[in-house]
Amino acid sequence: MEETAVSSVQHSAGKNAKHQKEKPQTLPLAAVDPMEGSRISSGIGELDRVLGGGIMKRSAVLIGGEPGIGKSTLLLQLAAGVVTKGRILYISGEESAGQLRLRADRLGIGKDRMEFIEILCSGNLEEIEKVMNNIKPALVLVDSAQTLFSEEAGLTAGTVNQMKYCSFELISWVKERDSVLFLTAHVTKEGNISGPKTLEHMVDTVLYFEQSEKTSGLNETDDCRFLRASKNRFGSVDEIGIFTMGEKGLSSIEETGRMFLVRRFDDSALSPGVAIAAVMEGTRTILVEIQALTIPAKGSISRVFSDKIDSGRVSRVSASLEKYLGLRLSDQDLYVNAAGGIRISEVGVELALACAIYSARTGLVLPADLVIAGELSLTGEIRPVRRLSSRVKTAANLGFASFLGPVSEQPVLPANPEGRNFQAKGLKTARDIKSAIKLVYG
Ligand code: TYD
Ligand code: MG
Repeated sequence: MEETAVSSVQHSAGKNAKHQKEKPQTLPLAAVDPMEGSRISSGIGELDRVLGGGIMKRSAVLIGGEPGIGKSTLLLQLAAGVVTKGRILYISGEESAGQLRLRADRLGIGKDRMEFIEILCSGNLEEIEKVMNNIKPALVLVDSAQTLFSEEAGLTAGTVNQMKYCSFELISWVKERDSVLFLTAHVTKEGNISGPKTLEHMVDTVLYFEQSEKTSGLNETDDCRFLRASKNRFGSVDEIGIFTMGEKGLSSIEETGRMFLVRRFDDSALSPGVAIAAVMEGTRTILVEIQALTIPAKGSISRVFSDKIDSGRVSRVSASLEKYLGLRLSDQDLYVNAAGGIRISEVGVELALACAIYSARTGLVLPADLVIAGELSLTGEIRPVRRLSSRVKTAANLGFASFLGPVSEQPVLPANPEGRNFQAKGLKTARDIKSAIKLVYG
């Protein structure tokens, strides 16, 4: 048999040697399978969203995050929810089968479903591959990449090389069959991501799980977790998945509504330094409270403390305020935060940020019913933002009576009945930061 003749070559050159032996073939582009309809639902709304509309078949997804963030929980919920008739293989190098069963019970996974989930507690690549060849799973979940090892990859287990070698073998396996691989990887609190980083180029999609620090006074955001794509071959990297961790695992938060607004007992008053921004996270609008605080600088140089909004952006916006409104900020330390711990990278936050800083420095509070969106240029102009009408509509739907934004060519007032409580007079538009501040404070 031909197979026997090449078996020794195969062994030394790795598992793909058989393919290399065949004559390389090209294919007219027109004949290539576009892989339409190759997505399957993970059964988890927010995970489907970050993946770009479901799990792509033959893809490999890496989920990174700090210990305790919920990676294992997400994998198990994925095993429970994924829409596939095939078997699911959950490989755990971290927890025992008993621990997994306890968690599955806690998550309320039904007995019928558990029949389809095969558990293998091992990090040994050779063992794992044997099992995979045997049961041919439609979905392979590996928790975690750091526990994988192979006798072929060198002497010490747990090294970066081991992890890379084993992950590569598993990725090749799912790509050659109609399967999917999810791998978790720990990122330490100190930000040591060198391990997982080396896997990023091998996989199709890289998701990072982040947690907001616990903030009191928020509605349900106390245990909010965000799933962000930092690489996605099959979708955008703009979408974020929003979850809360509860008694029964992670829940997808699709309706973000008031998630990132602080609940106040006296509805009529905001504190100085608070502005409500309408920002876009991917395709959805989120209203988020921006908080600013200025105090006389302690050192000879003023500093910016802001980890939810890029501090370069905060510096630039405060420079514009100083320049165009004569607001003295260069002798101040500036603190900026976003409620709910959500990280905001969208430019549309800049006008709200400017208003929050202005309010903090002057002590003049902003109207509690005002939502703000706009980009600020270095010349002090307010630049248009994408999907302005969607932002206005979200504000209107949540009962806000006024909106401050850039001048727009397109009509932005919501035309449908959902936005009926939003009055035309509540829409304020301004061309530059000076006139915007005038509009707000009269
Ligand atoms: P886990 O998935 O083990 O995190 P990771 O794999 O990223 O280390 O999640 C662990 C945390 O989640 C742990 O602190 C317990 C908490 N948790 C809940 O609050 N509710 C639940 O239903 C589950 C399963 C976990
Ligand atoms: Mg875990």
